[in-house]
Amino acid sequence: MKVFIAGGRGRVGSRLEDNLETKGIEVVSGGLEDGIDVISGKGLSEALVGVDTIVNVLNSPRFDAEGAISFFEGAIDNLTVEGERAGVRHHIVLSIVGVGEGDASEIGYYLGKVAQEKAVRSASIPATATTVTC
Ligand SMILES: NC(=O)c1ccc[n+]([C@@H]2O[C@H](COP(=O)([O-])OP(=O)(O)OC[C@H]3O[C@@H](n4cnc5c(N)ncnc54)[C@H](OP(=O)(O)O)[C@@H]3O)[C@@H](O)[C@H]2O)c1
Repeated sequence: MKVFIAGGRGRVGSRLEDNLETKGIEVVSGGLEDGIDVISGKGLSEALVGVDTIVNVLNSPRFDAEGAISFFEGAIDNLTVEGERAGVRHHIVLSIVGVGEGDASEIGYYLGKVAQEKAVRSASIPATATTVTC
């Protein structure tokens, strides 16, 4: 089993990478520091060769609604196109409990997370939007 962690050097991604490697799972880290840009697509097709599952723990550089929606949706689109070409079978996105509900429904960043969940659920690769990673 080979897992591509989109955002593998981040707070969540780096811990997840350690956990998966402890279990003997092969991991490819996909972040800017790794030379992979999920928005421009740089390095993405090469990094996804042989990958079964994408775990998406990316974070948006912008926290306003327009910036966050554009980043999270754009990343799902590019990961879906390149993931489908590579034969990826599952795309897991880490979301946040309660986004889009009650008082949180108008926060720009949360609107980005809601858009991210919607985009991955309607994309062609079977998907899970979860609030737990390890
Ligand atoms: N932290 C939490 O407690 C928590 C709780 C619930 C949900 N979440 C969700 O989990 C996700 C990750 O959170 P985090 O705190 O781990 O974020 P983080 O520490 O900011 O890490 C985000 C990662 O995204 C990568 N990244 C940003 N733009 C990129 C691009 N264009 N191409 C490739 N990689 C890019 C960064 O790469 P570089 O390091 O190379 O720049 C970084 O590794 C978020 O979506 C957040 O909503 C987090």
